[in-house]
Amino acid sequence: MVNLTLLFLLLALCVASTVQRNLELEEDANVQQNLAQDLQIVHYQPEQVHLAFGDSLQDIVVTWSTRSSTNQSIVNFAQDYVHDKLSVISGSWQLFEDGGKQARTQYIHKVTLPALQPGTRYEYSCGSNLGWSAVYSFRTPPAGDKWSPSLAIYGDMGNENAQSLARLQQDTQLGMYDAIIHVGDFAYDMDTDDARVGDEFMRQIETVAAYVPYMVCPGNHEEKYNFSNYRARFNMPGNGDSLWYSFNMGPVHFVSFSTEVYYFINYGMKLLTKQFEWLDQDLAEANLPENRAKRPWIITFGHRPMYCSDDKEYDCNGKLETYIRQGLPTLKWFGLEDLFYKHGVDVEFFAHEHFYTRLWPIYDFKVYNGSAEAPYTNPKAPIQIITGSAGCNENREPFSNNLPDWNAFHSNDYGYTRLKAHNGTHLYFEQVSDDKEGQIVDSFWVIKDKHGAYA
Ligand SMILES: *[C@@H]1O[C@H](CO)[C@@H](O)[C@H](O)[C@H]1NC(C)=O
Ligand SMILES: *[C@@H]1O[C@H](CO)[C@@H](O)[C@H](O)[C@H]1NC(C)=O
Ligand SMILES: *[C@@H]1O[C@H](CO)[C@@H](O)[C@H](O)[C@H]1NC(C)=O
Ligand SMILES: *[C@@H]1O[C@H](CO)[C@@H](O)[C@H](O)[C@H]1NC(C)=O
Ligand SMILES: [Fe+2]
Repeated sequence: MVNLTLLFLLLALCVASTVQRNLELEEDANVQQNLAQDLQIVHYQPEQVHLAFGDSLQDIVVTWSTRSSTNQSIVNFAQDYVHDKLSVISGSWQLFEDGGKQARTQYIHKVTLPALQPGTRYEYSCGSNLGWSAVYSFRTPPAGDKWSPSLAIYGDMGNENAQSLARLQQDTQLGMYDAIIHVGDFAYDMDTDDARVGDEFMRQIETVAAYVPYMVCPGNHEEKYNFSNYRARFNMPGNGDSLWYSFNMGPVHFVSFSTEVYYFINYGMKLLTKQFEWLDQDLAEANLPENRAKRPWIITFGHRPMYCSDDKEYDCNGKLETYIRQGLPTLKWFGLEDLFYKHGVDVEFFAHEHFYTRLWPIYDFKVYNGSAEAPYTNPKAPIQIITGSAGCNENREPFSNNLPDWNAFHSNDYGYTRLKAHNGTHLYFEQVSDDKEGQIVDSFWVIKDKHGAYA
C-alpha cells in the first residue's frame, strides 16, 4: 500500500515537472522551428541590391544578399544588356550572422565594378549561377571636377511610416540624382525581429539604391551588436567598416562620420580617437591648396546635430550642449565644432531630430552672417542643416516654443533636402515637403568666392 502511494506521488511529480519543462521549452522550440523553416527553403535569389561609390566615382560597388550560400558573387554588365557582350566581374561574399536570439544568417555579396567610363549609363544584373537579379541600371558621373552633382539628403527613414520613400523612388527613376545620402537611422531598427526589419528595409529602398549610389553614415538606431547590421550591409569607400570615410564629387569633398562614437563609448574609446585623428587628417588634405582649388566645397554629414531646437532632445543638457559640438563632458576633448571651423567646412548636414532646420552661419552659439542682406554669401562660419524628417515610426518631433536666434527656418513636414552643387562658387539647396505633395518649402543659395579657415 505504501509502495503504491509512493509510486503515485512519484508519477505526479514527474508529470508536473514535464509540463513545467515543456512550458519552458516552448519558446525555444518556436525559435528553432522558425529557424528550421528559414533553412529548409533555399534562398539563392539575390535581394536587397544596392550601390555605393568605391574609391573613386568611376568605381561602383554592388552589394546584395542571399539567404542561402551560393558560393559565388558575380555582376554581369554592359551599356546595352541585351545587345552588347556582357562584362563579367566576380567579387566576394561574407556570412553575416545577426546578433539576435535566432542568430539568423545571410550571405552578403560585394562586387566592385572598377574604372568604368565616366558619364555612361550601364545596365547590370547580379547573382550567381544559382540565380540572377533583374537588370538594373546606373549612370557614372562625368569625369573631373567641373560638373554639377545633384543629391537627395535625409536621415531617419524607417520601414514603417517611410513617408518620403515613394517620392524619392519616383525622383530617382526620373534620373534626378547622382547620389543619395542617408544621414543615419535606418529601418527602426535593422536588427529588429532578428534583422527581418533590416532585410525588409533594404528591399524597400532597392528602387532607389540599386540605381544610384546610396551613401550612408551610422545613427543611434544602428547601435545593436556594435553596429553589426550597419557594417555588414553597407560598403562605403575606404578599407574600413563604413563608420567614417570621404569622397569627392564634382566641386565637393564630402565627409561622412559617426556621431555615435561619442555616445556608445562602451564599444571602444579607440573609435572616437581614431575617427578624430582621421577627420583632422582628411580635412587637412582636402585643404591643400591644389585640392581646395579643384574642390572648393567641403560638406560633412553625421547623424546627431551640434545644436538643438527641440526641448525633448536628450542629447542636449540644460544648457543645450552636445558632445558633438563641444567634445566629451568636462574634458571637452574631441569637439567637432572647432575642428570643422579650423578646416573651413562650408556646410554640415545632421539628422536625428525628426524635422528640418536651417541655421544661420554659426560658431559657438553666435551667428556669423556674411552680411545682413546676404547671410549665406561669404558666411564667416559653417552653415548647418538638420534634415531628419524622411519618416519613421517615431513620428515627428516638436520644436521649442522659444526658438533660438540662430534658427533661420524650420519645418515639421515630412520630406527631404536636395542639393545641387552648381560650381565652385554656388550651391543650391531646397527642402521638399512630402506632406505638401512635393512642394518646395525652403530654398537658398550659398555663395562663396573664397574658401578655407574662418578665423
Ligand atoms: C558552398 O560551399 C560549401 C563549402 O564548400 C558547401 O558545403 C556548399 O554545399 C556549397 N553550396 C553550394 C550552393 O554550392
Ligand atoms: C566594435 O567594432 C569596431 C569596428 O567597427 C571595433 O574596432 C571595436 O573593437 C568593437 N568593439 C567591441 C567592444 O567589440
Ligand atoms: C543674420 O541674417 C538674418 C537674415 O537677414 C537676420 O534675421 C539675423 O538677425 C542676422 N543675424 C545677425 C547676428 O546678424
Ligand atoms: C556658377 O553657377 C552659378 C549658378 O548657376 C552661375 O550664376 C555662375 O555664373 C557660375 N559660375 C561660373 C564660374 O560658371
Ligand atoms: Fe537618431
